[in-house]
Amino acid sequence: MSSEADAFKGVWGGVLSKMEVTVVRKILKIAAAALLLLFAGAQFMRPERVNPPVVAGQSLEERAHVTREVAAILNRSCMDCHSNRTTWPWYSNVAPVSWFVIDHVNQGRRRLNFSEWGAYGQQEKEGKLKAICKFSKEGWMPLDSYAFIHRDARITPADVKALCEWASAETSRLASLN
Ligand code: HEC
Repeated sequence: MSSEADAFKGVWGGVLSKMEVTVVRKILKIAAAALLLLFAGAQFMRPERVNPPVVAGQSLEERAHVTREVAAILNRSCMDCHSNRTTWPWYSNVAPVSWFVIDHVNQGRRRLNFSEWGAYGQQEKEGKLKAICKFSKEGWMPLDSYAFIHRDARITPADVKALCEWASAETSRLASLN
């Protein structure tokens, strides 16, 4: 018996004959080729990856009172998906991962865009501020898939406390403007 067949016997406990091993190998090769082809083809499906222009005077920093601590947390953990200043990672160029990354950013911006804070009405702002505290406290944000890769984007209980205190202070400030 050849050493190759011995090696296989070691793995499969002699379940497969030499001919069956050849067939299995062939199937695996075809499957690998098919996967490679699929991966290559997927690269042609390119959803648009954009950073819309940041309009002066509309950002959260310009329209709200943001403490330095809160600004640091938002920049570190939230801005990639909730602003027009996304830093796109290299894998946002590689399908199928790119599809998820781009979708998260598009959806994130649609729901909450700190670069366009000035466009929200008072009630909307209050709703967003409340949600910022809630989503952080519940551990819904930043998204798990993001925090898994961007380890330093994870928020601590102290960060949550800072975000919630800021959100309520900003809400009071907004109310006092009326
Ligand atoms: C990887 C992208 C990503 C990151 C990073 C991220 N978010 Fe989100 N965020 C989303 C997506 C996507 C949604 C929409 C979720 C949905 O519809 O279920 C969302 C929704 C929200 C909402 C709901 C807004 C509304 O009015 O409905 C809030 C609030 C929010 N995020 C806050 C934050 C905060 C605060 C951080 C940072 C601590 C953060 N997010 C980080 C992607 C992200």
